Amino acid sequence: MSRILSKTKQVFDMVIFGATGDLARRKLLPAIYNAFIENNFDESSKIYCVGRQEISQEEYCQKALEFAQLTKQKIDNDKWAAFTQQIEYIKIEFNNVEEYNKLYELLDINRTSIYYLSTAPEFFNTIISNLAKVNLNHANSRIVLEKPLGHDLQSSEEINNFVAQYFTENQIYRIDHFLGKESVQNLMAIRFGNTLFEALWRRQWVHSVQITVAEDLGVGSRGDFYENTGALRDMLQNHLLQLLCIVAMEPPSSLDADIIRDEKLKVLRSLKPLNEEDVINNVIRGQYKAGTINGESVKAYIDEEHVLEDSHTETFVALKAEIQNWRWAGVPFYLRTGKRMQEKVAEIVIQFKDIPCKIFPTSGQNVGNRLIIRIQPEETVQLFFSAKEPGDGNRLKPVYLDLDFNKMFTNSRRTDGYERLLLDVIRGNLSLFVRRDEQLAAWKWVMPILESWDNLKIIPRQYAAGTWGPGGSSALLAKDGVFWHEDIS
Ligand code: BG6
Repeated sequence: MSRILSKTKQVFDMVIFGATGDLARRKLLPAIYNAFIENNFDESSKIYCVGRQEISQEEYCQKALEFAQLTKQKIDNDKWAAFTQQIEYIKIEFNNVEEYNKLYELLDINRTSIYYLSTAPEFFNTIISNLAKVNLNHANSRIVLEKPLGHDLQSSEEINNFVAQYFTENQIYRIDHFLGKESVQNLMAIRFGNTLFEALWRRQWVHSVQITVAEDLGVGSRGDFYENTGALRDMLQNHLLQLLCIVAMEPPSSLDADIIRDEKLKVLRSLKPLNEEDVINNVIRGQYKAGTINGESVKAYIDEEHVLEDSHTETFVALKAEIQNWRWAGVPFYLRTGKRMQEKVAEIVIQFKDIPCKIFPTSGQNVGNRLIIRIQPEETVQLFFSAKEPGDGNRLKPVYLDLDFNKMFTNSRRTDGYERLLLDVIRGNLSLFVRRDEQLAAWKWVMPILESWDNLKIIPRQYAAGTWGPGGSSALLAKDGVFWHEDIS
């Protein structure tokens, strides 16, 4: 998926609904600014920032600048001033169709119009139908939908059915920002750009796979959103299952969007369905209590703003999944995500099988035969294997090859996930967006977990903030004689 980005200047209109919201200010505008300073846009291209607040253009741009300055990126004042020439703030009440005429006047329907719905999902239908009422769902238009797309299988299908009345599937860009991360695309490159790994990438050689996306932050000011969501819907149904697809998919025959998405879909459809017993035995639900992270005391989830004091929302989930196909049958995939964990890290650990018979003396756990692909915070690949310790005797010691992509590509700029995805929407490349049937398959697979939690009244186990989750998470792997990566390194 890493391809040479074309430097043709892009001509488009982008309308961001929910432009005064957190996502737009923290992620979208800084990403668009980055793409702008890289000279990607034609000067006629416009970004219309739509919000419901009565604020002036100057106030909006000033606030946007303040948010952008909070990101890692250095902002150049002159360039920011030039960038804001292409931005226009428009106040629109989402449910007032008359006000959409303002947009109709401004947009040129002969060129690409992008509608980015960065609002709460309850506004999606209103915005979409109002755009259609003023004929803005034209042939050159594209719609970008942010997650969460639905609360469960049924509500997600309702949204998809609704959007499908006005936009064709090829005009719909369902964002999963993990797919925009450079490191996630690199995972495809590592797998399908080399024979080295691909030959071993199967049940004959792989013992187990771990996928971890851990965060040290809590829910912060998003308590009200999170109370109705939880880690399974917020992270696992989308980001972790997408990572699983990229790890487990068959090699696609080309980089064509649908060919890649067909392969991911096959993985989702091959996931062994979970029944209540599987949920009891193989899914761990957790919630953080007070603890310490980096020397600082942090509060319990139930003490966060807008969270019920007897909340049973999970902030952690770990589970064991199986893929029932010829490549993967019998290989456990352990997935885990959580907030307020010991550190922010996303990584994939491929544990290869042990050697069939041992001729060297060893001690302790086997940390060799292991490939660790770290997605964030740093982007590295480490290959652990065993080598002989110098000296007399034949004792083996784990050693590793360590590749740091930032050091390897010092002259290249690593783009943020959103920047890459926004440019792909502008260019009309759907490969890094989730197709409807993929989303449906992912929901179908997680539904029994949600239903069993409900039916069996499974409440989250507590874990202290700053740890790796509830003890049950390590026990889940220990039953199979496996350890989470941090427990053996
Ligand atoms: C979002 C979730 O999709 O991903 C957040 O809604 C989470 O709860 C975030 O914090 C994590 O993304 P990243 O890129 O910071 O790892």
